[in-house]
Amino acid sequence: MKNNFTAFNPTKLHFGRGVVGELGSQAALLGSRALVVYGGGSVLRNGSLQDTRDQLNQNDIDITEFSGIKPNPLTEDVNRAARLGREMKVDLVVAVGGGSVIDSAKIIAICIADGCDAWKVMKGIHGPTGALPLIAVLTLAATGTEMNAVAVLQNPETMEKIGYRNDLMYPVHSFLDPQYTLSVPLNYTAYGIVDLVAHSLEAWFGGGDASLSDRFVVAIIREAMQYGPSLMKDPDNYELRARIMWAATNALNNVTLYGRESGDWGVHALGHVLSFLYDTPHGATLSIMYPAWMKTMRERAGDRITYLGKELFGFQSVEETIKAFENLFSSLGSPITCPEASIDASKREEILSLMNRNRAGGINYRLSDGERAELLSHVF
Ligand code: NZQ
Ligand code: ZN
Repeated sequence: MKNNFTAFNPTKLHFGRGVVGELGSQAALLGSRALVVYGGGSVLRNGSLQDTRDQLNQNDIDITEFSGIKPNPLTEDVNRAARLGREMKVDLVVAVGGGSVIDSAKIIAICIADGCDAWKVMKGIHGPTGALPLIAVLTLAATGTEMNAVAVLQNPETMEKIGYRNDLMYPVHSFLDPQYTLSVPLNYTAYGIVDLVAHSLEAWFGGGDASLSDRFVVAIIREAMQYGPSLMKDPDNYELRARIMWAATNALNNVTLYGRESGDWGVHALGHVLSFLYDTPHGATLSIMYPAWMKTMRERAGDRITYLGKELFGFQSVEETIKAFENLFSSLGSPITCPEASIDASKREEILSLMNRNRAGGINYRLSDGERAELLSHVF
């Protein structure tokens, strides 16, 4: 335990069937005029939006709605939502949806409070002084945004998709009812499982020495290995949905990171280039990039890959470990090559050029242009 750290997570997380029944009374303690943010309409079909509206109405909270947040969310939508929120003088933000909606709502809550531009916040040009309180109703198990202080947005003008972290962005309350995730289609169910595994791996390949955090990583990936494939075969199973949902929260709520110098996040940065260019779903970018990253890093990160393989699969070699991850992702139905995600080999130069321009790589393992080129040779 060489590194000092501060353990902190202020989000009050409510988990299980019917927990949204507590939303209204909690919201009433935080505000009286809510901006309710959601995406393209899945929340209308699975009941989560109506349950949230009912809760707010029953507690005399005025509602203004902003819909249309897209997967791989855009800063321009965040700015539009924040302008609406300021016009309507809202004092509370309620996000209903997956990671894209909740991430957007985190920055909306800052921009309403500060009257600032979303991208300036993301780039660290504007240091926020405050944020409206945020309540999240999660409908998709994947990102961990429901219990962390991170948001990821993309900006077509600068050709970037980037993450930003600030303690102001922890949701005050997050409501996780696995019933709302029963309607998640199979492809996004798989991408969510890949995402939670990838978050665990980004922690594993971070710098520093943190044995307990390492054990949390192994335990979380084991949950995904045990319940992920079963869930793909039985997507209406509440119990399996619940196990994956809780695993996803824990994969990125700080417990895997305490005591480390950092996570790595290189594979996320590489994957964001695919999302930016081709709107590839986040989890799909990770199942493509992680095995390729491990192949490229077999020398530099060989000890860590082998150690993980031994803990998870009982293997002794880098190659067997990488193969096991490929098998896991493929068994879920998530792509492990670009062509499997409908990105053909003619796109290779375009991808490499944006990866190099954005210096896509990790905090612990920085990548050279040559390594990025090698990595792409593994995905086509
Ligand atoms: O837009 P709607 O109609 O709501 O449909 C969504 C969307 O099409 C749909 N969906 C959500 N809940 C559903 C549902 N469909 C049926 N039933 C439900 N219950 O699923 C699609 C994907 O939604 P999205 O929110 O984009 O997915 P996810 O939760 O995987 O979020 C991905 C975003 O989060 C970022 C990613 O980069 C990406 O932009 N991340 C955020 C992180 C964080 N804040 O900590 C960390 C992650 O590494 C990740 O980068
Ligand atoms: Zn992720």
